[in-house]
Amino acid sequence: MSVKLSEALSKAELQNSEKTEFFQTYKRSSLIPVRGEGVYLYDEEGNSYLDLVSGLGVNALGHAHPEIIEAVTDQYSRFSHLSNGFINTPQVVLAGQILKAAPEVQRVFFTNSGTEAVEGTIKLVRRWAKKHNKEDIIAFSKGFHGRSLGALSLTYKQAYRDGYGPFMPEVKHLQFDSLKDLTGITEKTAAVFLEFVQGEGGIRPISCEFADELDRLHKKYGFLLIADEIQAGVGRTGQFFSYQWYTLKPDLVVCAKPIGGGLPLGVILGKEPLSELWEPGSHGTTFGGNPVACAAGSVVMNWLFEQNGLSHVKTTGNLFLEALKQIREQVPGKVKSVRAFGLMGALELNEDSSGYPSKALSEGLIINSTDSTVIRLLPPLIITDIEINEMKEKLIRILK
Ligand SMILES: Cc1ncc(COP(=O)(O)O)c(C=O)c1O
Repeated sequence: MSVKLSEALSKAELQNSEKTEFFQTYKRSSLIPVRGEGVYLYDEEGNSYLDLVSGLGVNALGHAHPEIIEAVTDQYSRFSHLSNGFINTPQVVLAGQILKAAPEVQRVFFTNSGTEAVEGTIKLVRRWAKKHNKEDIIAFSKGFHGRSLGALSLTYKQAYRDGYGPFMPEVKHLQFDSLKDLTGITEKTAAVFLEFVQGEGGIRPISCEFADELDRLHKKYGFLLIADEIQAGVGRTGQFFSYQWYTLKPDLVVCAKPIGGGLPLGVILGKEPLSELWEPGSHGTTFGGNPVACAAGSVVMNWLFEQNGLSHVKTTGNLFLEALKQIREQVPGKVKSVRAFGLMGALELNEDSSGYPSKALSEGLIINSTDSTVIRLLPPLIITDIEINEMKEKLIRILK
């Protein structure tokens, strides 16, 4: 018999337990959802909230998608977990779908999360660097790559790093999208970790000039270029991976968030020659590539490529950008800039943005604030023009 948690504990009891029993690492919303359907979440009273965060870019197909429920139920009823000591069909099927969508890479390693994918990639880089007599690892200002110690060495924000050093000594940060700073890349550079479109940094794509210069340096020095597609990947920008908008191509890709269809899953993708760096036993994970998560991920891939999902993102992405521009016009002086790439959007305000997520709840809207002045919007990829219009009307009212 299932336990109906929402009936067992009142909202006040849940909030009190969270405050007294949990490490206080999160600023939690006052909304306690009890269920979700499509692009909406619902609270106990049945109020609906248009979800423009989608679990931090995870729920590409929204909540309770019927095909994901079917795939997950079917897989769970066969087996939910085997360990990576066994080949299993959902992993192999999903790997095939991903490699078809990203022909630049030929090998996969499944993980549980984005951070675990970044961490494994750092290990690959270290092995490769030793073999090729290289040292430096480059990351960029405002970049986010996770919070374990290796990944945090790459993540830029001081508030996330405070008190956790020492970090990896070979990591150097250069200014994001600065051509001038690229002179920091030399023959000693082993790897460059790059978000082609920064997410946490407020939806900022690299310029074509920056991509071209990095391409030139990549060919000249032969370092490993790693695309962090954890937030911008899996269709979010209208291409499967955001690097596919550019001619510059990575040697390794890390991907997570939507790839598990709402379940924890990440993946490292690499070019064929890099597969030499790992032999049996040199890396591993218990949960990585969980069969149920892979089965859900296959539904996301199927939606993107067999049900016109990618072109849906391109079309609605244009409407989304248009709506954000209209918001700026309707609230003069409030919005400093509007940025959107596919269904990844940001309103940079002329003021602190941290109070807006709670204000938005009273209008039935779920939004996210990052980088102190930015409202970040990562709606489910299935969002339609009707809901984009709802977003526009509501955000105008909130900002006014
Ligand atoms: C670009 C990027 N890299 C890495 C991560 C870390 O991924 P995870 O939270 O799945 O460990 C995130 C998470 O937000 C991210 O946006």
